[in-house]
Amino acid sequence: LAVHLVSFFFSKLQEDPTKKVDRFLHAMRLQDDQLTDISKRFMAEMKKGLSIESTAAAAVKMLPTQVRSTPDGSEKGQFLALDLGGSKFKVLRVKVREDVGIRKGGVELEEKTYPIPKELQVGRADELFDHVSESLKDFLHEKNISPKKKHPLAFTFSFPCEHPSLDQGLLLNWCKNYRVRGLQGKDVVKALKQAVNRTGDMDIEVLAIVDDTVATMMTCGFDDQCCEVGLIIGTGTNACYMDELRHIDLVEGDEGRMCVNTEWGGFGDDGALDDFITEFDREVDAASLNPGKQIFEKMVSGMYLGELVRLVLLKMAKLGLLFDGHVSDALRTKGKITTADVAAMEEYRSGLKNTKDILTHLHLSPSPEDCIAVQQVSTIVSFRSSNLVAAGLTAILTRIRQNRNLRGLRITVGVDGTVYKTHPQYSKRLHKVVRRLLPDCQVRFVLSESGSSKGAALVAAVAQRLTSQRRK
Ligand code: GLC
Repeated sequence: LAVHLVSFFFSKLQEDPTKKVDRFLHAMRLQDDQLTDISKRFMAEMKKGLSIESTAAAAVKMLPTQVRSTPDGSEKGQFLALDLGGSKFKVLRVKVREDVGIRKGGVELEEKTYPIPKELQVGRADELFDHVSESLKDFLHEKNISPKKKHPLAFTFSFPCEHPSLDQGLLLNWCKNYRVRGLQGKDVVKALKQAVNRTGDMDIEVLAIVDDTVATMMTCGFDDQCCEVGLIIGTGTNACYMDELRHIDLVEGDEGRMCVNTEWGGFGDDGALDDFITEFDREVDAASLNPGKQIFEKMVSGMYLGELVRLVLLKMAKLGLLFDGHVSDALRTKGKITTADVAAMEEYRSGLKNTKDILTHLHLSPSPEDCIAVQQVSTIVSFRSSNLVAAGLTAILTRIRQNRNLRGLRITVGVDGTVYKTHPQYSKRLHKVVRRLLPDCQVRFVLSESGSSKGAALVAAVAQRLTSQRRK
């Protein structure tokens, strides 16, 4: 018995701290068969969102964007662009140069970031748009752009909108850190134009309003004609892709293709993911600006990953599984662990040291084992995110492959967003899982630098090209 006790004691002592985390977070460690299951559920949701009978009640909105073509390289022109709804609000001047054509370097960009005060993100629509249009005016002034001339403008607006035409966007709802009064159901472009008139001394023609996923796809499509999917993993998450018009009930015509903004952040809002949702997801949802909405987004995107990690650590500490059962006020406080912290904790060489610093900063005194365990919590939470994105993407790519009756598929996915760009392991993990789930597809991932800003101007340029071709 004594021998047994001693060996039990030692085995306890020597237990790899990651093991207890693996057990504790079992429900977040998704296996390939579960991902395939999620992927199939998402395929069913896509169908629901596209069909006229079921679209009204669909959790995944599948919004037609009126974008019918990716760039062919002959686009040209100079545009102003606004980019609102990601981690930063930016105003830009975008030059698309015909002489350089479709190759890299064909698009020149000048941009300025204007912070949006928190109170405007939850205030009144006219106040928010006054700020937007005053920033635009400041930009014109700073770049010496004549306010007398009429300027074509493209608008990246990263919230779900219905598009009766390319230059109209009827807002369905706010999400992420925005909840602005007085715009739901209304045309965002009209609100912008009214604000521009109030600000005065500017002549602006809004040519296109698009989502950031669409803008990202267009940016990558300018360099790579195989790019037919746009993906964002940033503050929020979403994807768009080119579908066949014959499948899009809400748009007339059967010939050709149109880009569909899936709004996959809403996947699960109708309970479709309930068996994968943990108590931590429920807590994040309950404390958000939009409870019950954007369930998938809350499991995946940058606005929530840090908070998920914090809630897991808090629970483990309360159960005595971390920090000797000690809990600090900081650990109890919402927002004290950010997604940037999660990324730092998973840094290849400095991850453990970063973890110790972050925990110490939260007034905790972690042991070396605690640090290893906390790092494992971050890994599981961020890995679940990339796994879920892989499942969604698998569904989209499978749909495209089936649409075209192909056995295999060569395709490029344009990607943007802070999580994808700045988390040290995220992109590698995502690529690997997608390739494992889709052995018959050759998927190329292209990071679209400034994609969500540049792309709106490309949409406008494509629209201008198509209009002038029709006139000829
Ligand atoms: C949210 C928005 C969506 C956007 C995404 C990424 O999910 O609803 O329109 O594309 O965030 O910014």
